[in-house]
Amino acid sequence: MTETIRLVYADKEYELPVIVGSEGEKAIDISQLRAATGFITLDPGYANTGSCTSNITFMDGEKGILRYRGIPVEELAEHATFKETAYLLINGKLPNRQELTRFSVLLNDNSLVHEDMRAFYENFPRSSHPMGILSAMVNALRSFYPELHNLEEEINMTVTRLLSKIRTLAAMSYKISRGHKVVYPRPDLAYCANFLNMMFDSPVKPYLIDPDVVKALRVFWILHADHEQNCSTSAVRLVGSARVNLYAAISAGIAALWGPLHGGANQAVIEMLSDIAKNKNMSKVIKLAKDKKDPSRLMGFGHRVYKTYDPRAKIMKKMCDRLLTKLKISDPLLDVAKELEEKALKDDYFVEHNLYPNVDFYSGIVLRAIGIPVNMFTVLFAIGRLPGWIAQWKESMDDPMWKLSRPRQIYTGPLQTKFVPIDER
Ligand code: ACO
Repeated sequence: MTETIRLVYADKEYELPVIVGSEGEKAIDISQLRAATGFITLDPGYANTGSCTSNITFMDGEKGILRYRGIPVEELAEHATFKETAYLLINGKLPNRQELTRFSVLLNDNSLVHEDMRAFYENFPRSSHPMGILSAMVNALRSFYPELHNLEEEINMTVTRLLSKIRTLAAMSYKISRGHKVVYPRPDLAYCANFLNMMFDSPVKPYLIDPDVVKALRVFWILHADHEQNCSTSAVRLVGSARVNLYAAISAGIAALWGPLHGGANQAVIEMLSDIAKNKNMSKVIKLAKDKKDPSRLMGFGHRVYKTYDPRAKIMKKMCDRLLTKLKISDPLLDVAKELEEKALKDDYFVEHNLYPNVDFYSGIVLRAIGIPVNMFTVLFAIGRLPGWIAQWKESMDDPMWKLSRPRQIYTGPLQTKFVPIDER
């Protein structure tokens, strides 16, 4: 029998059904609340609101668990390729050899972007942030690759194009911003290596592909591949709910990810660590982060869902240590990060607020070691998150319960007022 919750108001009683997820999480189904009671709910930032049911990603913020389609992210980071992880998220199962080969061929066949798109890049001001450029270029893809008539074919083609071309678009933006020759994708290189080669190969200095660097990028992307209903994914679902094309929905996700409270935090963390390294002001940074009158926060700390150590941050920290040792890099920012983490984790404010390092705290140091410039950090996050956005969008399109996303509000403005002609104001 379905469990219910009783809502009592004035002399009336209402029964609200309880929804139970496969991991035992519970929700009150309020979909009939307004019709039955005239009430709506108010939940700023949606901290208590489930926007959908989903069978893609499970996370437990209290226990520090993250699983894609049931598989722990730790196992995927250890054993899977990014391509397999993307396939898993989008199709709901790991590919067999044949499916993986077919997927790889499709990604390779769709890796080039229309040559006319280059003109756009050349006309953005050189100082443009690559996230703004990426969002615009992904949206522009619709104009270059018009809709196909067969819906299934259209979705499959759009998904493949996006997964493949996003690497090319991102690497192009970097090359063009530096005034360098664009490097084309290579059919003989796998997903991560291909991207690195497009970023760093040059006619005068061929890029030597280092398996440790490829592995680091693979793990970085797997750790970012999905994170259930976060800000950018919710943006993709919300924009997608108006039935816009997938390029437009992903472009909205990229724009949301750009923010420093979300994906933009990886850039903000490096800026904060560099500032501490330069000005030796760690205590001041911690003090200001705790000061309610000051807007600054400890970047890379805290998470809406994780109230313990972010499992991705654990993997990232280990990988960061291993990579820097292997590459024989001594990055002073790693020492600053470790000291800052140690200090914050012993500080009553951070303990009481359950603030732990999140995925962005160590990821920037990994990206720096790979050679990625700071303003491209969030672009790398976006490439990693793309399979998750696509999977969530697809799930919402196939959901028979899915509706146009349209929250309500409680109006607090003036009551009906007369229009005053301009001469009488
Ligand atoms: N530094 C200092 N104080 C913090 C921090 C922080 N990084 N994060 C939260 N707090 C404090 C808040 O000031 C607030 O304190 P109060 O209750 O005494 O007023 C309390 O903790 C709760 O903060 P909220 O903003 O309500 O919590 P929310 O769940 O909305 O915040 C967020 C999550 C936005 C990620 C926040 O922790 C933050 O701003 N962190 C820094 C930015 C960051 O690293 N973002 C990346 C997140 S991971 C990702 O999106 C990929």
